[in-house]
Amino acid sequence: MAPRKILIDTDPGQDDAFAILFALGSPAELEVVGITTVGGNVPLALTATNALKVVELAGRPDVPVYAGCPAPMVRKLITAEYVHGETGLDGADLPEPVTPLQSEHAVNFLVRTIMDAPEGELTVCTLGPMTNLAMAMTMEPRIVARLREVVLMGGGFFQGGNATPTAEFNMFVDPHAAHKVFESGVPVTMAGIDCTYTALMTPQWLDALRATGRRAAIEAANLADFYRQYGDHKFPTPARPIHDACVTGYLLAPTLYEQRQCNVTVDIVSPETIGMTVVDWWHVKGKPRNCNVLRSIDPDPFFELMLERIGSLP
Ligand code: BDR
Ligand code: CA
Repeated sequence: MAPRKILIDTDPGQDDAFAILFALGSPAELEVVGITTVGGNVPLALTATNALKVVELAGRPDVPVYAGCPAPMVRKLITAEYVHGETGLDGADLPEPVTPLQSEHAVNFLVRTIMDAPEGELTVCTLGPMTNLAMAMTMEPRIVARLREVVLMGGGFFQGGNATPTAEFNMFVDPHAAHKVFESGVPVTMAGIDCTYTALMTPQWLDALRATGRRAAIEAANLADFYRQYGDHKFPTPARPIHDACVTGYLLAPTLYEQRQCNVTVDIVSPETIGMTVVDWWHVKGKPRNCNVLRSIDPDPFFELMLERIGSLP
């Protein structure tokens, strides 16, 4: 079977880097058509450079990288250097990229590529605030019907939020963009923190990643060592979620996930709960089930697969 064609929209971010490396290490199943970047964990200039660093680390400078929106649709950008460090990829000493950014704006690239592709072929994976995709849907609403699926990391319900008591970071940064995508009618799969908190990356797994002896794997482990310093207040052991990689895991092995079709809305009006993904798990409202909600992962096979795939990179 031909590999599934995906576009990755991202704000790297150590866990974004894992998601990208995991995808690029799986060429039989996934073809990464392009990477678009957005302001999120750190400002856009850094996320764009970071995406180039990651494709070069994977030995795949042929994957084109496009810079997109520097700020959310309505609100001011909120960043997360307290998790990811000043560069967004603290922990690894990756060289400045030699591959240039594409000159086309990411939103134009998304519209052009989705309109040109056969209907139902492309999947968009969003690993950060959903600004670029929502802007592309605003600019060319016909892209909605052409997409196969949107698979996103963001939101959550049973675990509350990680940016506010009720909102996950990607949703909180650009709730209006997320609202637009969820209301668009595009098939959405959501890997929220309910799901990502069930696959915690352990120091022992990082040892195994290093033991592959491959540069990409070793640098990924270095990134993870920085990133896992954050979270002591929440997680009782040094194991940490590797949020965005759960999107790649779902594309490769969906049966590892507990999932349910639900109605999901994104709050954009209440100051207390803006960015909250309200998941109707029990279908009490009876409204259309617009989202495949991923609730948990079987962690051992997930980490085995990621080890194999990132460990296959140079
Ligand atoms: C999400 O926020 C970012 O900090 C991570 O990269 C991930 O996409 C987790 O809430
Ligand atoms: Ca991210």
